[in-house]
This record gives sequence, structure tokens and C-alpha cells, in this order.
Amino acid sequence: MKARIAVLPGDGIGPEVTAEAVHCLRAIAAKFHHDFELIEAPVGAVAMDAGLEPLPAPTLELARAADAILFGAIGAPRYSDPALQVRPEQAILGLRRELGLFANLRPIVPHASLRHASPLKDELLEGVDLMVVRELTGGIYFGRQLRQGDTATDECRYTIAEVERIARVAGRLARARRRQITSVDKANVLETSRLWRQVVTRVIAEEFPDVQLEHQLVDSAAMLLLSRPAGYDVIVTENLFGDILSDEAAALAGSLGLLPSASIGDGTRGLYEPIHGSAPDIAGRGIANPYAAIGSAALLLRHSLGLEAEASVLEKAVAGAIAAGILTPDLAPRGTVAADTRAAGRAVLERF
Ligand code: IPM
Ligand code: MN
Repeated sequence: MKARIAVLPGDGIGPEVTAEAVHCLRAIAAKFHHDFELIEAPVGAVAMDAGLEPLPAPTLELARAADAILFGAIGAPRYSDPALQVRPEQAILGLRRELGLFANLRPIVPHASLRHASPLKDELLEGVDLMVVRELTGGIYFGRQLRQGDTATDECRYTIAEVERIARVAGRLARARRRQITSVDKANVLETSRLWRQVVTRVIAEEFPDVQLEHQLVDSAAMLLLSRPAGYDVIVTENLFGDILSDEAAALAGSLGLLPSASIGDGTRGLYEPIHGSAPDIAGRGIANPYAAIGSAALLLRHSLGLEAEASVLEKAVAGAIAAGILTPDLAPRGTVAADTRAAGRAVLERF
């Protein structure tokens, strides 16, 4: 097949890990006789350094015209002053909103050979296989923001339609899995959460009667995610709660450097990015873990291009490299020699 893929490496370790994902996409194209056109563009702090907006208009146009977007990471300490009006993070928020990418899928399946890397006890990790479905274009991230005198305001709003469509994404995913949804909210305090709970309850009852639904308050869910993680199948939640809970869930896998994500909307076009950030502390050293970025490329093949066989070849190659102990410093056991980013990328390529 022919596909046009926008590559937006962004900041910090973004370019390093994205380069490995790009090698993998090229190798998949060669092996399966696809024609992938990969076009790179600046985004985030890197764009600001060049005197551009965080999300330059040509970059947004490229993303719009693409079948899928491979994204690296965003953010830099040099642009983290709270007094700044223009911030690198506006780029990823702008892409999500402009492209209508309202659902962020974050699968979390701890790898058997990496139990040592998680702070949790072995027996708690047994059977963990969960999917966080994070609402991505609503809530407090996109409400009115205001600073007046000594007061700051962040508005949190949700519409019925926004909750309905994310509930449907969760319902469809649950059907292809273990048919169990946990909806996470703060309905004992927030009005948006009470709307969320009513709408999710109705959509699942009417359209997914074969799927089991439970509700949890976010504070309790944050605890249960670590004390009985195997109890979850699909977790559906609003933007801010999903951001926080999915980083927390990364502790189950042992490293943020392993977790990919897919941001999707109504059509097939999606944006694929590791859930880790730009990690400025290790940027430029060639030691970042590329597996989350490569895993994101696999999700791109599956969700946007419909290439299931190719996606699973890539995922199996990553699993094989991990099982063979090719691990970057975030995962390598103490006393062992860690692989660098390139070596980990090559270990994946060698496996297909
Ligand atoms: C993520 C990131 C972003 C978010 C930041 C960089 C704006 O943390 O994708 O999870 O909060 O959504
Ligand atoms: Mn985050």
C-alpha cells in the first residue's frame, strides 16, 4: 500500500527515539512491499528555536494531509518559565484539537522478563493487561484559562456528545478484549464527572449491553491501579485523570520508555507517540529507550493503515529484543551492560 506519514520528532529525546521508529517503518515497508512516504517537520521547542510557532502552519498542513503522524516528544526546560505565553506543549495540544484526535489509547502489558524493573511485587503483576482510554480534546486541558489579579482559573467542561463518543471507543475496544470497562471520575465532587457518569452508563447499557461497566472515583482508582492492577481491562476517563493514571500505570511495565500510545478520531488518521516526554536530563546522549516509539509505529500500522500483520511483526520483534535482554539504562538490571538507543533499535530490526 501507499501511505504518507508525517514524522514530527520534536524535542529532547524525541529525535533519537523517533529515528529508530523510522528505521523500523522503512524496514517493514521493504519487507512487505509497501510504499511509505515519510516527511519530517519541526514542532515544539525545536520550532521555537528556529523562530517559528510551536506548531508552524506548514507542519499542521503536513499532518492534515498525512495518513498518519509519528510524533516524538515535546517540551524543554528553556521554555518552562511559567511567565511564558507561548509554550512548546501548545503544539501537541493544537495537533490533537485541530485533527479531532479525541481518543488516546494507552495499552499497558508488562513484559514477563521485566518484572524486576517494576517496583510492584511479582504476584501483583500476574495477568496485568489493561488499556487506558483517555479523552483527549476536552476537559480542563481545553477550557478557558484566565489570570486576573491574584486569581487564576482553569475551566473544566464536557459536553454530552464528547462523553458519548469516548464511551463508544471504550465499548468497541472492550468488545475485542475482556468486555469489562472501568469508568473513572470524581462524581462525588465535580459536575463534569456527574455528566460523565450518566452518559457513560447510558451509552454502555444501550449500545454495549454485553460489556460490563463499573465506576470508580479517581482517588480510589489511583490506589487500586497499584494494589490490584490485574482487575482492570479497559479504563475510560477524562483528559487530566487519564494523563495522570497512565503515567502511574507505567510503573506496572517498569519504565515509561516502554509505553506507546495512539491518538485517534473519527476517521483512520491518527497520531502515534510514546507516552514518555522529552526527558531533557538524558537528551542527546543516545541512551533513551526507543521501544515506546517503535511500539507507537506498530500502533500506527494497525490503527491508521490497517496493517495488522505488519504491526504484530513489529511488536513481536520488540518483545523478542526485550526477552533477549537488549535493554537501555532505564531497564537494564544493576551490574549489567545497558544497550544504547541505536543498539536497541538494531535489535528490533534484526528480528524481522
Ligand atoms: C502526554 C503529555 C502531554 C499531556 C503534555 C506534553 C502536554 O504529558 O501526552 O501525556 O499532558 O497530554
Ligand atoms: Mn502525560
